[in-house]
Amino acid sequence: MAPKKDGRTTHKNQCVVLKLGGELLEQPQDVQRIARGIRRLAERASLTVVHGGGKEIDAALALAGIPKRQVDGLRVTDAATLDAVVAVLAGSINTRLVAAVREAGGTPVGLTGADAGVAVVKRAAPIMSTAGESVDLGLVGTPAPGGEPGLLVDLMARGYVPVVACVGATKKGQLLNVNADTLASHLAARLKAARLVIAGGTAGVLDADGRTIARLTARDAAKLVKAGTANKGMVAKLQACRDALKRGVGDVLVANGRRLEFDTLANGKVMQPDCTQVVR
Ligand SMILES: Nc1ncnc2c1ncn2[C@@H]1O[C@H](COP(=O)(O)OP(=O)(O)OP(=O)(O)O)[C@@H](O)[C@H]1O
Ligand SMILES: [Mg+2]
Repeated sequence: MAPKKDGRTTHKNQCVVLKLGGELLEQPQDVQRIARGIRRLAERASLTVVHGGGKEIDAALALAGIPKRQVDGLRVTDAATLDAVVAVLAGSINTRLVAAVREAGGTPVGLTGADAGVAVVKRAAPIMSTAGESVDLGLVGTPAPGGEPGLLVDLMARGYVPVVACVGATKKGQLLNVNADTLASHLAARLKAARLVIAGGTAGVLDADGRTIARLTARDAAKLVKAGTANKGMVAKLQACRDALKRGVGDVLVANGRRLEFDTLANGKVMQPDCTQVVR
């Protein structure tokens, strides 16, 4: 849908935040399908997209000879790693997705959490890993007070689709790497989203036998992490789901991004294929 030329706001009564895992944005056929879906979903809801870039960042690091270290799905980030993260996320991946959504007839605007203070972040405190180790993540940010998502609200009200790369800046202007699930959860809460969809490469959250769990409470999610059934990137993801629900987001889906049914994605009563609904 074209933005209103006369500056009037559009009236789509609910907001959806769609988080896309980096692996969904590597193959041209995946990008094209998702771009067309974003265009259709934006006709039905006020939509903000947040994306990660896991594997492509890994490839850029490998090319530059920078070793990779992740703890429970969070990237330990030194200055050289941050440079690669910003270049890949805010550069290659963001512009590729924006161009694809544009080609599909949508009205995307690419930005990062640093734009207009959409996501003010602070250095993350050292985390206690699931392995029981205290880890300083380095140049990694978590959302901090003072962030103002007004730019996203304005863009959506005028019919644009903000496409946010998961980089933030501190009040002092230091760029930091932010886990994309964490950023999406935070923005969903601030935008009072009716639904947060976290789309990735797996068929939702899988149980110990590799089957999709249809419905998961916040408490069950914590148990899955404790048991080790949910590990690596899923640890940060489930934390992000719990935070979003606690902060008032109506509904959180962890879904297979290759099977998303975009025409019903804004409908809170309709489930998606290969999907886990995380509830309070
Ligand atoms: N129980 C589980 N169910 C599903 N996936 C799991 C589970 N436990 C661990 N994982 C891992 O979590 C990964 C998803 O997190 P990951 O951070 O790698 O990707 P993402 O968050 O979708 O993408 P990005 O980091 O680019 O935003 C899966 O690919 C899988 O390897
Ligand atoms: Mg991740």
